[in-house]
Amino acid sequence: MLTLTVVATKGGVGKTTLAANIGGLLRDLGFRVLLVDADVQPALTRYFKLASQAPCGITHMVMSNNLDADCISAVELPPEDFTREPGRYPPLGQLDIVCSDTSDGKLQDWLSNRLDRLVRLRMSIKTPAVAARYDFVIIDTQGAIGHLQDTAVNAADLLIAPASPDVISAREFIAGTVALLERIESSTNMGFTVPAMKAIINRAEKTVDSRSMAFLIRDQFLTMQGRVTVLDTMVNSAVAFRKAATSRVPVHWIDPQRAGVVMHQLLWELIPSLRGRRAPTMQGVEIPIGVPSELAAVATASESVSERPQHAHS
Ligand SMILES: Nc1ncnc2c1ncn2[C@@H]1O[C@H](COP(=O)(O)OP(=O)(O)O)[C@@H](O)[C@H]1O
Ligand SMILES: [Mg+2]
Repeated sequence: MLTLTVVATKGGVGKTTLAANIGGLLRDLGFRVLLVDADVQPALTRYFKLASQAPCGITHMVMSNNLDADCISAVELPPEDFTREPGRYPPLGQLDIVCSDTSDGKLQDWLSNRLDRLVRLRMSIKTPAVAARYDFVIIDTQGAIGHLQDTAVNAADLLIAPASPDVISAREFIAGTVALLERIESSTNMGFTVPAMKAIINRAEKTVDSRSMAFLIRDQFLTMQGRVTVLDTMVNSAVAFRKAATSRVPVHWIDPQRAGVVMHQLLWELIPSLRGRRAPTMQGVEIPIGVPSELAAVATASESVSERPQHAHS
């Protein structure tokens, strides 16, 4: 079981969008996926239609230190009112969600008094029972600093950090990420390590801006303690993402040719062992492996600098 936490110190950069769409794609690849909404303002909770709403959510899960059946809501895919090409979207894999139910801040307050707050979410997810039931856990977080974000970061095997493709945002991204890593690191003397972070440039508009953003982040490799790498796959700004959210389905259903292709490439780069696996809904669509050669050249140039520190931390 692999746990991915989507994190960014900024709001509106695409955390929830990526969490929902990576989850939806993994489900279509036949995997059993658990989404966890660790944002105090429920967003992932509202992305998909629920087949049934569980009586509890993240508050009970974290406080009881256990993923009870009572905390798990099932996602309805396709949703009843999704009428496009009936029969093309068969039930595949499994997609469940632990909903956010802590908008009153109760869970955050509770965590603030706990000595084990940093490992609390990890303890409820990294159990044999959860591992037997799910292949992937994807945790969405809020854009603000807090105990819930910290415990979600610590629960991860891999951190996914969407970033906006302009230079101001890049600086913000670097400062915010360094602060986040340092904060977690300062509490990791107890023996756990900060997971590796993969940054994803999301809502790319102009390639030049996006590329300079990627450069800037790669350039800060050492400042960011060698833990952040930028994926070569960039996600363009596309209306399909909004349409998908409106229809409450993954974006590769709405726009297989473009958004579907990029989501596959992104997933393959994120988890290389999945390379070549395709959602059945992508029939007839060609998905090139790899990235445009100019980007690949950038990646190779930065790798020679980045190799040693990366190994030092692994
Ligand atoms: N690649 C994209 N192209 C177009 N719109 C996007 C893209 N990614 C996210 N969005 C839109 O941006 C808004 C904010 O995204 P969201 O995932 O909610 O961000 P966050 O969770 O980081 O606050 C949403 O309306 C979403 O549909
Ligand atoms: Mg969000």
